[in-house]
Amino acid sequence: TASDGFAPRLLAWFDVNGRHDLPWQHPRTPYRVWLSEVMLQQTQVATVIPYFHRFVEALPDLPALADAPLDRVLALWSGLGYYTRARNLHSAAQSCMQHHGGELPRDVEALAALPGIGRSTAAAIAAQAWNDRHAILDGNVKRALARFHGIEGWPGASAVEKKLWTFAQRHVEDPALPGDRLADYTQAQMDFGATLCTRARPACVICPLQDDCVARIAGRQDELPTPRPA
Ligand code: ADE
Repeated sequence: TASDGFAPRLLAWFDVNGRHDLPWQHPRTPYRVWLSEVMLQQTQVATVIPYFHRFVEALPDLPALADAPLDRVLALWSGLGYYTRARNLHSAAQSCMQHHGGELPRDVEALAALPGIGRSTAAAIAAQAWNDRHAILDGNVKRALARFHGIEGWPGASAVEKKLWTFAQRHVEDPALPGDRLADYTQAQMDFGATLCTRARPACVICPLQDDCVARIAGRQDELPTPRPA
């Protein structure tokens, strides 16, 4: 149920153990959040940080990005890899100039319609930029939910992913999650999956969810989530 404590316990864990000094958190503008989420889609935090600084210094806002030649954007992206992300970012900025008054649209559907922004990234942007109440589901969150709820099956399979979205949605709707903490809750889930509920070595003995985690109770944290079928 929504009151199984998943969300409030993650939030309390985040207050003590989460990452509170990431560059896109200070200041936390929609443009900076968007840029960081796109960089973080396929790249780890430690690698992203210097690229993020360099990028926002050169192109500090959405109009500057839209106006820049693509070559300049690609040069700023150089070394991060997956250059489609940079092309999509540039194209999305131009679309925002044309259709959204030069700003990111404050609506998940419109965000998800922009190039390079899927459902989870749109939700992560809206939650962090505006504290909107939206569920996210990236690889880290899938792992935590599969373990906590004991969900069998490879999370890349659509039926399994659908179940995971249902739980993610249930937790984000928990009344124990205050409306001004959706940005923090979003970051909490990322940090929890990246640093505690890790793939190879989950730190169950210090986990705030250990007493109610189906995988932990069954001693199956190393078997969940189910690996991709060979
Ligand atoms: N991966 C995607 N978004 C992230 C974020 N905000 N912090 C850490 N890792 C992430």
